[in-house]
Amino acid sequence: MNSHRILVVDDKRDLAQGVALILKKLSDNIAVAYSVEEALELLEQFPANIVLSDIRMPGRDGVSFLDYTRERWPSTRVILFTAYGTIESAVSAMKRGAFDYLTKPFDNDELLVVTSRALKEIKDEEEIERLRAEVRGTYAFHGIYSRDRHMMRVIETIRRVAPTNTTVLVCGESGTGKELVARAIHAEGNRSQGPFVAFNAAALPENLAEAELFGCKKGAYTGADRDRKGLFQEAHGGTLLIDEICSMPLGLQSKVLRALQEREVLPLGSGSTVKFEVRVIAATNLDPKRLLKEEKLRRDLYYRLAVMRITVPPLRERVEDIPLLANVFLERLVSPSDTPKSISPRALRLLISHDWPGNVRELQNVIERAALISCGDEIGPGDIVLEDDDLDWPSGVTDDVAYEEAKREAIERFQRRYVEDVMAKAAGNVSVASRKAGITRAALYRILKRLGLVSEYSDAQNPHKEEPEQETTGSMT
Ligand SMILES: Nc1ncnc2c1ncn2[C@@H]1O[C@H](COP(=O)(O)OP(=O)(O)OP(=O)(O)O)[C@@H](O)[C@H]1O
Ligand SMILES: [Mg+2]
Repeated sequence: MNSHRILVVDDKRDLAQGVALILKKLSDNIAVAYSVEEALELLEQFPANIVLSDIRMPGRDGVSFLDYTRERWPSTRVILFTAYGTIESAVSAMKRGAFDYLTKPFDNDELLVVTSRALKEIKDEEEIERLRAEVRGTYAFHGIYSRDRHMMRVIETIRRVAPTNTTVLVCGESGTGKELVARAIHAEGNRSQGPFVAFNAAALPENLAEAELFGCKKGAYTGADRDRKGLFQEAHGGTLLIDEICSMPLGLQSKVLRALQEREVLPLGSGSTVKFEVRVIAATNLDPKRLLKEEKLRRDLYYRLAVMRITVPPLRERVEDIPLLANVFLERLVSPSDTPKSISPRALRLLISHDWPGNVRELQNVIERAALISCGDEIGPGDIVLEDDDLDWPSGVTDDVAYEEAKREAIERFQRRYVEDVMAKAAGNVSVASRKAGITRAALYRILKRLGLVSEYSDAQNPHKEEPEQETTGSMT
């Protein structure tokens, strides 16, 4: 079923509801309003792809509504209902950018045909945008790179909610790009000139978090040595991101809810409230539905926040994005005059078959590390050090690889992990590390050298500092 949003506006309730009922054939996301004022309020909350509205209504009429909608949501298709014999108003509506008009009384088929046409145009446009992105190979929207279909939906939703004031809840695993999404909503909306303020609800104990969000009077708690503005005020005219909202203590959750409802906050230790004008975006890397069940998230707050919900898919579900993002991160590492390193096809296969529990952030770290440790101008499988990187290779990686070559790479990857780990535990001291590893200092040095890690550990510059070269005991080679 289609979920493109359709809004029906008519002061004649029966007619509005009848039209909505028929349009259910085309979309399961239909809203009804009985006046232009009500329609505008609804649109602020949920922008619609298609609006069907009567021209003549008490209060504000359909034509001024059309003008406003064209201006504010240019991609929304507006279809107007005109009364028989008012062809002039229909013509003027078309000139003003209405998608089409229907002369009352119209029958179901007419209604469905015209609305389907608008829907088709919208879908075609979305498809063209998607293809264009594909042709360009890279698609970046306020720093969000992707070629994935679901991410295109995310971007489309950002576009649609950005110009509104709606509270948005951004869900997704850790490192999927939730903050990037919140920033994109801010940058794309009409508050982009205002501040973007991010607050992490998990980082602070309750009273400090409260003071941070709502502000405080001097002496409100020990350590409050002066009056302080809260983040709701700091973000005035802009956007406030409340990250990890589900980690917020329940008491504070209800205060946040009240602030959202009243659009004012009560600074800690203060007797009077302060108004604010801020768009709030909340983010969570936990499943809000589960937290509702566990009563870690207040239901009323959830419904208030989740007026619009955006779910960012995990990286393993958008495999196409892995090579794209890997290259984006690689390019960021070089100065404009240098050519970036390339990633060998086998290294790429390794990246693609990884699970990415830490999502895009993990990929970014892996690429930065690989670029550092790789010697030539190509990143090979040996340079890719993954989180759960055991000797069991992800399936598919060994396809078409000669046994000896695969073994060499597996050993090299094992050595790299082992040596980095033991060197870290020995605080970079080669002698200490070799003792921990049960091999000679010289043997460890040889491995460091082969892996190109010598320069990373200044202590390893001189292989013969303490002991003469001798036969290795627990050889790793
Ligand atoms: N689609 C993307 N394109 C480019 N960079 C991305 C993309 N998604 C995420 N990143 C980068 O990955 C890192 C993590 O992203 P971000 O901080 O937005 O994730 P998050 O979901 O908020 O993580 P957490 O749950 O840990 O707070 C950032 O450096 C961000 O710039
Ligand atoms: Mg985040």
